[in-house]
Amino acid sequence: MIQTVPLPTWRQLLSLPKGVSRIDAQPDRWLTDPGDTALWLSRSAWSLALLARAMMVERGRTIRVAVPEYICNQSLWPLRQTGAELDFYALDPQRLTPLWPDDRQGAPPDLVLLVHYFGWANAGDEALAYCRRHDALLVEDCAHVLRPTPEIGRLGDVVLYSQHKVLACPDGALCLLRRQATALGPAMRADLNAMASDHPPVTAWAWRRMVQKTPIAGLRARLRPPGQSDFTADPSTTPMPCQPRASAAALSLIDAADLELVARRRRVNAAALLEVVGTVPGLRPLFDGILAEAPYRLPLLCANQQQAERLFQACRAERLPAESWPDLPPEITSGTATMLRSRVLLLPCHQDLQPAQLQQAFTRVLRRLSV
Ligand SMILES: Cc1ncc(COP(=O)(O)O)c(C=O)c1O
Repeated sequence: MIQTVPLPTWRQLLSLPKGVSRIDAQPDRWLTDPGDTALWLSRSAWSLALLARAMMVERGRTIRVAVPEYICNQSLWPLRQTGAELDFYALDPQRLTPLWPDDRQGAPPDLVLLVHYFGWANAGDEALAYCRRHDALLVEDCAHVLRPTPEIGRLGDVVLYSQHKVLACPDGALCLLRRQATALGPAMRADLNAMASDHPPVTAWAWRRMVQKTPIAGLRARLRPPGQSDFTADPSTTPMPCQPRASAAALSLIDAADLELVARRRRVNAAALLEVVGTVPGLRPLFDGILAEAPYRLPLLCANQQQAERLFQACRAERLPAESWPDLPPEITSGTATMLRSRVLLLPCHQDLQPAQLQQAFTRVLRRLSV
């Protein structure tokens, strides 16, 4: 059975440590500079909120955050609670690089979020230059990225990773602070300590993963395919329980992960899928050229929404978990993000899958479409 996410081993599931992790546990494999300050949280959504709050205290006023139009609204929920003002900026429809507003247009940002979509490097140099012109901090959003690469995770004043999205762990997100952002570390740490000592529930996650490792999961999927039932349907944004700490279980699973192997398998799986996808008229990879170092998903751009919906339903029928992305912010009603939301289909390529298994499944999807 093709799962949407990688699963831990039985041994790992049966020996998970309890409690919260240390905020400043050593994140060696994500550091690009030994001077970086590291904070471990449960999710990057909380990192963003803590960052905004610390910056408001430092600047003595509310702050403006430049956010790309193509982003999921749920991940902005904690940030919106801080009272920060969000300014959505447009993206180039071909490369998803920011189209920075004219320097004299509108109020300048304090924080600028640059997303490396699905693991592909976005335009960091231009983003940093834009930030420097406005005395803003650059936040590299690496929520879809496994680890730093020569082009990712080195330029940002703040770098956010969401390990829980790419590794088999219940939670876990790393916030790295450097240069002038380092001064925000003590305030963020104090804020986190004052907020709550909770982490997201580990036991419920472990039970779900155990069931997914048994034949019950396959039987259930045959009766009712998992995931969203409709390509255009979005989950509604909901308030998030205050569980900003990383769990000790997450950190031990993250520690045990072989990142080299994870990266290689993700690349090989995405390449295998691309071989089959390349035969479909009108369908193309969202990014031209080289594969990302460790793709989060394989993003495919369909010719139009009808093709995306047909492919999505055919994938569901063959139990290949395809996804649409994201639940756009309500402010975004036109432009590149709405075009991408209606035409991009994500296919899984994570480290637990096999290239032949993915090729066979996608070939069955195409056969289904041609009859
Ligand atoms: C681009 C991007 N940034 C940030 C986030 C938030 O990440 P997390 O789930 O760790 O809060 C998400 C979540 O989907 C995301 O897609």
